Amino acid sequence: MQTRTAVLHAVGDPISVETLDLSAPRAGEVRVRIRAAGVCHSDWHLISGATQHPLPAALGHEGAGEVVAVGPGVTRLQVGDSVSLNWAPACGECFYCLHDSPCLCDAYLEPIWAGVMLDGTPRYALAGQPVYHYCGLGCFSDYVVVPVQSCVLLDPRVPASVAALIGCAVTTGVGAVLNTAQVRPGSSVAIFGAGGVGMSMVLGAKLAGAARIIVVDRVAQKGEFAMSLGATHFVPAGDYAIGEIRALTGGRGVDYAFEAVGSPAVQEACLAAARPGGTIVLAGLAPMGSSTNLPGAVLTRQEKTVKGSYYGSAHPPRDFPFLASLYLDGLLDLDSLITRTYRLEEINSAYTEMLAGSVVRSVVLFE
Ligand SMILES: NC(=O)c1ccc[n+]([C@@H]2O[C@H](COP(=O)([O-])OP(=O)(O)OC[C@H]3O[C@@H](n4cnc5c(N)ncnc54)[C@H](O)[C@@H]3O)[C@@H](O)[C@H]2O)c1
Ligand SMILES: [Zn+2]
Ligand SMILES: [Zn+2]
Repeated sequence: MQTRTAVLHAVGDPISVETLDLSAPRAGEVRVRIRAAGVCHSDWHLISGATQHPLPAALGHEGAGEVVAVGPGVTRLQVGDSVSLNWAPACGECFYCLHDSPCLCDAYLEPIWAGVMLDGTPRYALAGQPVYHYCGLGCFSDYVVVPVQSCVLLDPRVPASVAALIGCAVTTGVGAVLNTAQVRPGSSVAIFGAGGVGMSMVLGAKLAGAARIIVVDRVAQKGEFAMSLGATHFVPAGDYAIGEIRALTGGRGVDYAFEAVGSPAVQEACLAAARPGGTIVLAGLAPMGSSTNLPGAVLTRQEKTVKGSYYGSAHPPRDFPFLASLYLDGLLDLDSLITRTYRLEEINSAYTEMLAGSVVRSVVLFE
């Protein structure tokens, strides 16, 4: 069959919406009709070249939709099921899966970085040539074929746009707070970067009972929004940010500093923002090959802990339904994260607006 899909042909190019050939699901795969796909910054890293990936690539990794066909051997899902897409289709059996780190599963990481399905081949093609799947998905597309492990069944009462965000930003942001940092009630938190991931951290910190939730961003307008979601303070990014954070925390710095930008300089600012004995959680994706100065001389003497957080240290089949239930119970205001919607043809404008910081999270809606 054919499908309209957002494709990146070369680093620095605009995204082009192309009609691709999509082959049928093979054993252990399903075809999903996409209803909504979120505009996450991680796709932009392919366009800027900060993340290297085989090209051409079908973009989009934060999606949700409806199962429309199942391949041989798929029994867990049926046509008509509502699913949120998981970009970490872990095997459940390897060392990492058995040690509570399915996002580090070594069975899926190699194929997703090669842009292919778990059997090593892509399902998209243009004029007979392969088009690779970003994150094993490529869901800025009317239809996508994915491994069954990439589908998490969700309550159909969750709107598709919210289910899409659970597929990346919300799991990453709330997971960084609840799983990676395990923020304790009454603690102080600073969140650098108030996009879809950072604002999800705000929601997570509120849920965890943090007493001070300080948001740092270079766009002032994000401050009002962060406060409406539960942040207690907004600090403009820049030279005075660390001083202001210390002033708000008895001169010490915060218990937990979260990075949700993807910049070595901001990662370094997080180290400065955390108090002695505090924890720094890095969720933003810094450019591949970049390095950050997190001096051991400081870490030891001040007993600071630095943690990486990939996909919110989540277990998607466990955490997606958990986050969906919090949403349905009114405990996680995911509707408010979505400040704009687009059609697929408007995908380049969606990224321009994301880079300008004029949206919290935008979502591409499909018919
Ligand atoms: N760890 C993971 O598994 C994972 C998952 C999803 C996204 N990410 C990464 O998280 C980061 C954030 O993603 P997003 O989709 O929320 O991005 P976004 O573009 O929606 O938001 C980024 C925010 O950072 C702000 N910002 C930019 N420079 C800043 C600075 N110097 N100081 C403070 N704020 C600054 C922007 O104004 C914006 O509000 C990206 O690097 C993305 O690739 C990581
Ligand atoms: Zn595994
Ligand atoms: Zn993402």
